[in-house]
Amino acid sequence: MDIDSIRADFPGLREWTYLDNAFICLYPRQVREGYDEFLDQWMTFSPKGAKTILGEWLDKANHVRGMLADFVGAAANEIALTTCTGSGLNIVINGTKWEKGDNVVFPVNEHNPMDTTTLRRNGVESRPVKVEKGRVELSDLEKAVDDSTKLVQVSQVSYVNGFRFNLKEVSEIAHDHGAKVLVDSTQALGALATDVKEEKVDYVSAAPYKYLMGPAGLAFLYVSSEHLEDLEPDRIGWKNQLWDGEHAEEPLDGFKTAEKFEYGTIHFQGAYGLEKSLEYINNIGIDKIEKRVLSLTDHLWSRLSELGREMYTPPGNRAPIVSFYQNDSVEVASKLMLEKVKVTGREAHGGHIRVSSHFYNTREDIDLFIDKLSEYPA
Ligand SMILES: Cc1ncc(COP(=O)(O)O)c(C=O)c1O
Repeated sequence: MDIDSIRADFPGLREWTYLDNAFICLYPRQVREGYDEFLDQWMTFSPKGAKTILGEWLDKANHVRGMLADFVGAAANEIALTTCTGSGLNIVINGTKWEKGDNVVFPVNEHNPMDTTTLRRNGVESRPVKVEKGRVELSDLEKAVDDSTKLVQVSQVSYVNGFRFNLKEVSEIAHDHGAKVLVDSTQALGALATDVKEEKVDYVSAAPYKYLMGPAGLAFLYVSSEHLEDLEPDRIGWKNQLWDGEHAEEPLDGFKTAEKFEYGTIHFQGAYGLEKSLEYINNIGIDKIEKRVLSLTDHLWSRLSELGREMYTPPGNRAPIVSFYQNDSVEVASKLMLEKVKVTGREAHGGHIRVSSHFYNTREDIDLFIDKLSEYPA
């Protein structure tokens, strides 16, 4: 990895020691080319040949759906473009056929726990699983799951402290009871190589504005082809159902594509940007990125330990996020920000600071952060 030329692509790095990718990423300059292409095309109204401008946008959306599919090891018909992570999670909840007495299992510290009105109206029980010492024990998750469990919802990587689930084991537990696994991968994709088929998960929802370096307002949902016919679209519009005057016409491909969950106009400009971010990541290679991110995590962990900080992230965790307990965490993060060092400070969960590196960070970034942090008592 030619780190100097990579860093030169990120204008934000000229000013910032940026260690807050779990919040929002920095953009490389190449992403602007995508946004500009969209704007230029619209301003000059110049789609190619006889194609309408909408045809051009829909083609780009198709292309990006395919890129996302390749990126997570899925097929293109298993990907729907959505607006945010929560949108995909709700599509799964609302499209599932519930029966009174069913239950849904999720860790207490999920970012978007799916305890929804749909579930309450259908008499479905929510079963939060405890988090202890920063981790969810699979044995606790297993105790909560029974034959009435229809969904197990987890984040691949926790937004709070980076706790990373072994998705394959979660899938085994759920599937043994006939339940499906719904994963929020927003804090993982772009940093950790992920193959949805290897992990045997059923649904994945993710937003790309963190490690995927993509847009805000465009996200995606993976639905395993096994469930494409069963899961019903929870909202309808011109894109997934045409009305012929008297009847609804047969929906897209007889319901065999996740595109059926796209019901209206997509954040097309975002798709132009996301194409460039995915190209950028693919050009480096996600395996190389993961290796670098995890080695930065190791370095950060050992520097924080030297400083005597009490860790909130469990030991041995393999993820981009490292969190530690800190007095006056919000104030310390604000003061660091004034010195152009960006991390997240939170009062929740005992007051902690969350640090999250990406491939464009260096050990020097981490050492500089540690130097500044050492000025504050733990
Ligand atoms: C794990 C996780 N999921 C989802 C989100 C964002 O949710 P949405 O895309 O619905 O705004 C975040 C944002 O911090 C997150 O950390």
